[in-house]
Amino acid sequence: MRLVVFLLVIVGCWCDVRILIDEDGGYNITVNNQLWLRSSRTAIYTDTQWYSTEDNSLILTNVTVAEGDDPNLGSWNQTTLTYDLVSNQTSTSISAHIRQWNIISAFTFHLETGDNALTDRIALDMEQVRTVFPSFYIEKIDMNDQRGFFTFEGLMSGETGKHAGNWNASSRVINSGMQGGPVVLFNLTQRGEDDVLVLSPFSHFMATSLTQRNKILDSILEYGIIGSMSSIPANYTHSMIVFYSQNGINEGIREWGETMQRAFNRTNENRLNDLTINYLGYYTDNGGYYYYHTEDGMNYEETMLNVAHKIPLPFHYIQLDSWWYFKGIGNGVSQWTARPDVFPDGLAVLHRRLENIPLAAHNRYWSYDTVYKQKYAFALDPGNGKALPIGNDSFWIDLFVEARNWGLVLYEQDWLNVQTIDFLPTRVDINLGEQWLMSMGEAAKQTEMNIQYCMSLPRHILQALQIPRVTHARVSDDYAVHLKDSTRSQWNIGISSMLADAIGLAPFKDVLWSTSLQPGSPYGTSSKEILPEREILIATLSTGPVGPGDGIDYANIQSIMKCCRRDGLILKPDRPLTTINTLVADWAFYNGVIQGELYSTQTTINDRTFHIIFASAMKRDYTVYPSMIGSESGIIWSYDNAQITAIFDDTHPLDVLANKCNNETICLWYVSPLWQFNDPIRTKYALLGEWSKWTAVSQQRFTSITTNKEKTQAIITLQGVASEIVPIVLFHSTLHTITVNCSMSTEDGQANVIVTPTHVMCS
Ligand SMILES: *[C@@H]1O[C@H](CO)[C@@H](O)[C@H](O)[C@H]1NC(C)=O
Ligand SMILES: *[C@@H]1O[C@H](CO)[C@@H](O)[C@H](O)[C@H]1NC(C)=O
Ligand SMILES: *[C@@H]1O[C@H](CO)[C@@H](O)[C@H](O)[C@H]1NC(C)=O
Ligand SMILES: *[C@@H]1O[C@H](CO)[C@@H](O)[C@H](O)[C@H]1NC(C)=O
Ligand SMILES: *[C@@H]1O[C@H](CO)[C@@H](O)[C@H](O)[C@H]1NC(C)=O
Ligand SMILES: *[C@@H]1O[C@H](CO)[C@@H](O)[C@H](O)[C@H]1NC(C)=O
Ligand SMILES: *[C@@H]1O[C@H](CO)[C@@H](O)[C@H](O)[C@H]1NC(C)=O
Ligand SMILES: *[C@@H]1O[C@H](CO)[C@@H](O)[C@H](O)[C@H]1NC(C)=O
Ligand SMILES: *[C@@H]1O[C@H](CO)[C@@H](O)[C@H](O)[C@H]1NC(C)=O
Ligand SMILES: *[C@@H]1O[C@H](CO)[C@@H](O)[C@H](O)[C@H]1NC(C)=O
Ligand SMILES: *[C@@H]1O[C@H](CO)[C@@H](O)[C@H](O)[C@H]1NC(C)=O
Repeated sequence: MRLVVFLLVIVGCWCDVRILIDEDGGYNITVNNQLWLRSSRTAIYTDTQWYSTEDNSLILTNVTVAEGDDPNLGSWNQTTLTYDLVSNQTSTSISAHIRQWNIISAFTFHLETGDNALTDRIALDMEQVRTVFPSFYIEKIDMNDQRGFFTFEGLMSGETGKHAGNWNASSRVINSGMQGGPVVLFNLTQRGEDDVLVLSPFSHFMATSLTQRNKILDSILEYGIIGSMSSIPANYTHSMIVFYSQNGINEGIREWGETMQRAFNRTNENRLNDLTINYLGYYTDNGGYYYYHTEDGMNYEETMLNVAHKIPLPFHYIQLDSWWYFKGIGNGVSQWTARPDVFPDGLAVLHRRLENIPLAAHNRYWSYDTVYKQKYAFALDPGNGKALPIGNDSFWIDLFVEARNWGLVLYEQDWLNVQTIDFLPTRVDINLGEQWLMSMGEAAKQTEMNIQYCMSLPRHILQALQIPRVTHARVSDDYAVHLKDSTRSQWNIGISSMLADAIGLAPFKDVLWSTSLQPGSPYGTSSKEILPEREILIATLSTGPVGPGDGIDYANIQSIMKCCRRDGLILKPDRPLTTINTLVADWAFYNGVIQGELYSTQTTINDRTFHIIFASAMKRDYTVYPSMIGSESGIIWSYDNAQITAIFDDTHPLDVLANKCNNETICLWYVSPLWQFNDPIRTKYALLGEWSKWTAVSQQRFTSITTNKEKTQAIITLQGVASEIVPIVLFHSTLHTITVNCSMSTEDGQANVIVTPTHVMCS
């Protein structure tokens, strides 16, 4: 057989990733000459029948090559496999394109289902797919093949059903097509460093799935249109991407996400400007003290006024959860306006009494008896008791314009999984899911509203690529589960944060308590937060919202303020805290049992990068080398004692001990680059950072670090609130660990720390 071999040349990478395509339409992807993915069938289900290359009911008629150019992703070469589908006397030409990109390290697979609509009287199950292209065997190639995978699955950005394992035919890679998401494949021998493939849908995120089909001996990953979709329109194309990185799991996922964002022109503009992401806020959702619960003898209006006026914290917004609007059939929302028993004077009056503090408000699935269906176009599902705005009229704009008038700045769309899965129209109409979310997003754009996704499946996160106003998403289960049962972690968002962040969404940990015991809460007398500081630090380092939900008398002000500047601006690292590659690889190696929560993140100020290492719930000891967190060598210190610093380099790695960093404690270290002056004794110094905050070095606080030409003086410039006192810790080889209290100028809110071989001072 003649083999047509296409070599992918990756710019800036001398690694070798190839796709080989043969005359029969088979294709293999190799990494460094090792087979990683081998194709299985191409197939289409229509007229209640499968047409497949496996039994020649789908016949390959031509193989052609072409070149092209994409405005966002550059040039490509592609091979087109043309198939003939003969059904019911009509012949449909199906085109399967395999595209090799020249400047991004990816292959994309596009299936054009031809110029006839493909309909079904008897649909397949929603967990299956009704088109298959591409498909790959899930297999261990030979005895030396030690590869692992993990995948995002389930609600909260793929958090609740995430899993990992060995890449072999008996592994369950995808449990549910509807709930599944991107699959990350890596080399266990390299412990999750180096070679990584990310496999994900590349278009029509609400209408397509990755599924797993098991045959007697084989196990196959198949991509295509959700099985229950009743009709595929003429000339419909859907696509999937196989993205390669040589930079390990974390970086590989980030690179894949950057490519996805580039493909859809997504920018981080709205994320960076979202008030609810940048500033401290107050939350009342499931885990908050005032979730379906008010102060004794007060209604909700009085309770919220007390929260705003009595808790001495710089809240910039208040979130109102599902307790404030009208519900109908099946507890769906019937009318999204304030109930008189909750806010007797209405939201506009409440907003005014709250000195116009911005509001964030929750919404859920629409009930079958929603009042809005009288005026606007809704898809209805009497069986499930739900409804959905079709989005071809002014529904969303009217809703958001009205909400703007009572102070809404953030619309929280919750129950996304239920509205998608437990609702017939979104399962059978190929366009409806996308149309619903896009029309919501378009109205948000027109009314300058931001959107938070909650209970979102990976497909909703991917859909947000096309919805610039979705700025963040929940990446954890409800906080209440952790309050009721401490052994159920809820703060462990090191995996799900990777997906949200890659797509350009800030990960949101959810509400938190800053005090362990809060009598009178709605969660029972035994409810407890065993480690409040872990909650605050995770929320702060997530880069997403920080939203305490303490009872009025229970907020620990000092503890919460470790998140923020005096005025409530959150001091953040540059990227979310995520699980380090080694721990992800071990999660797969130990057949899906997580070995601990060992995370890292970083901040860069003028090309100088500072790292943070976090550990909790460790099940085994680890030795962390700088390269494992993408760091250079430097100086390391534990958050609770800046007086003791140590060298962190390849000969002085960090020991992370399971008995010390256990499920009821936290370990946290900061790593700073160590610099040297050009003085006779070569004085060394390092910026350890802001002692009183979780993010010791943040871009919000440090605007620049410069050295003079002679390398005898360094100037560190800070910004803050006028007259704010900021304790800055430095390491200095002559003066040892030194703290200077910097007072921010009353004029411009700035200050400079000046470091020389003999002294450190702030001006
Ligand atoms: C893919 O790999 C399999 C197993 O090595 C081989 O039999 C097949 O010919 C290869 N196909 C292509 C297109 O390279
Ligand atoms: C196939 O053709 C027959 C006869 O023309 C028609 O009755 C039937 O509805 C067609 N089936 C589909 C699925 O279009
Ligand atoms: C294959 O496609 C090419 C280009 O479209 C065309 O020239 C050629 O005739 C086709 N071959 C067959 C067997 O259809
Ligand atoms: C793309 O096609 C052009 C023309 O056929 C060829 O010169 C080039 O090498 C191809 N590029 C790749 C990456 O295969
Ligand atoms: C599908 O595409 C073909 C070729 O571009 C075109 O002739 C045809 O009208 C299209 N069909 C529909 C229903 O849009
Ligand atoms: C995994 O990495 C090891 C070490 O680099 C290498 O020898 C092996 O071939 C790789 N395996 C695969 C499947 O690429
Ligand atoms: C396949 O992987 C699973 C875990 O994903 C593991 O339990 C099983 O032992 C592996 N089987 C083989 C043959 O390696
Ligand atoms: C992205 O922007 C480019 C150039 O402005 C445009 O050509 C392209 O259609 C846009 N792509 C998407 C998916 O919006
Ligand atoms: C919106 O779609 C519905 C259902 O398809 C249709 O009945 C209605 O006329 C459409 N409205 C507008 C304004 O296009
Ligand atoms: C911590 O682990 C110990 C031992 O496995 C267990 O008994 C305890 O319940 C765990 N505590 C939490 C909060 O998970
Ligand atoms: C800095 O301020 C803190 C609290 O305001 C004080 O406890 C500490 O002694 C001061 N440190 C120095 C070096 O002035």
